[in-house]
Amino acid sequence: MARIVVHTKKAPYIYKTPKGDVVAICMCGLSDTYPLCSGKHAITADEEDEVVYFYDPNKNRAGKASKIVLEEGEKEPGESVKV
Ligand code: FES
Repeated sequence: MARIVVHTKKAPYIYKTPKGDVVAICMCGLSDTYPLCSGKHAITADEEDEVVYFYDPNKNRAGKASKIVLEEGEKEPGESVKV
């Protein structure tokens, strides 16, 4: 079984705690220290907005697609999918 989870951000969310600590939360989904940012998002820098990129379990880029075909029909990247 496989699962596709879509992440569109290329940088972490920076959270400042009430005590003043700064925490970088991973928003790209590729962090080695998830949910905290590990800097791995740097490999998303050259991703194009209209393309979907696939990463293997080791978080190396494994491929890309300009269109996704689901059982309900074709979806453009960024188009929401109703479940
Ligand atoms: S935002 Fe994911 S590793 Fe930095």
